[in-house]
Amino acid sequence: MRRIGILTGGGDCPGLNPAIRAVARKALIENFSVIGIKNGWKGLIKKDVMKLDLNSVSGILPRGGTILGTSRTNPFKNPGDVKKVKQNFKQLKLYCLVAIGGDDTLGVASKLFKMRLNVVGIPKTIDNDLSATDFTFGFDTAVNIATEAIDRLHTTAESHHRIMVVEVMGRHAGWIATYAGIAAGADVILIPEKPIDLNEVCEILRKRKKRGKGFSIVVVAEGAKIKEDKLVLKKEKRDAFGHVLLGGIGHVLGDRIEKMTGFETRVTVLGHIQRGGTPTAFDRVLATRYGIKAVELIKAGKFGKMVSLSGNEITSVPLAKAVGTLKTLDMRLYNIAKVFFG
Ligand code: F6P
Repeated sequence: MRRIGILTGGGDCPGLNPAIRAVARKALIENFSVIGIKNGWKGLIKKDVMKLDLNSVSGILPRGGTILGTSRTNPFKNPGDVKKVKQNFKQLKLYCLVAIGGDDTLGVASKLFKMRLNVVGIPKTIDNDLSATDFTFGFDTAVNIATEAIDRLHTTAESHHRIMVVEVMGRHAGWIATYAGIAAGADVILIPEKPIDLNEVCEILRKRKKRGKGFSIVVVAEGAKIKEDKLVLKKEKRDAFGHVLLGGIGHVLGDRIEKMTGFETRVTVLGHIQRGGTPTAFDRVLATRYGIKAVELIKAGKFGKMVSLSGNEITSVPLAKAVGTLKTLDMRLYNIAKVFFG
């Protein structure tokens, strides 16, 4: 019986468990055996695995996180680790590995495919910043969590006549900020794709006050940057893939707005709440469709691909073309959001 391995790498997100379940269930139907590799690429370096059968994937559909665990391990940081990955791939008798991840995890998968290992990728991330798919799963859940949070901040902002600054995740793309901002009726949305002009922001807030709106909601993406300022970081230290840890722009912005306008301002940083908990129905369905398609590709012997959503069709693209290019916000969406500023 041919064996499929599954791993989840990078930051977790809601929808990973539905994807694992879908790959496992479809693979078992197609007469493959299935194992889970624990904690992303780290598990393949250490040969840390678990058997996946009908019972081990039962009941995980609505659960956030990943039953396999995850890590931001990059085997290409150390040539010895790549060697171990190749060795263990053979020793575990993997016919194909399904790598579920964002750009970093899929970048590793792409390199391994070039080294003649059978791999198929499934795109996930709350950031929705992968260029070769319309949506990654995890994004819809994060947007819904942020939308609900902003709705809640709205009522307290209104009662206290305050400015509420809400910092959301999304790395170097403004997808979460713009979707949640539109959905929750933000008065200003600030994104990495457009440096922040503080005078412009304060002018919008003053105008609102003048027309009798004593409160305002400002949504800021963690990767947004004030013009002429440096990017605000939580940690300078880079991870194994070279990423800095973003975070803190909300507080910097809140202070500056309060000083410039004199309006009482509070700041909320949503942080990892956006990544936790149960996936939305949309993310469960998308993750399930991706999982099924991944096994169909394996069955057809089509390796080195990433499953992808194009319109409402699940299709696939070469991994090599799917990684390395950041999908920034579609600015047509930002122009829609701008209609409601002020
Ligand atoms: O990529 C997902 C993400 O949540 C980003 O939005 C955020 O910048 C980053 O991961 C946070 O990383 P960590 O989980 O290491 O704190």
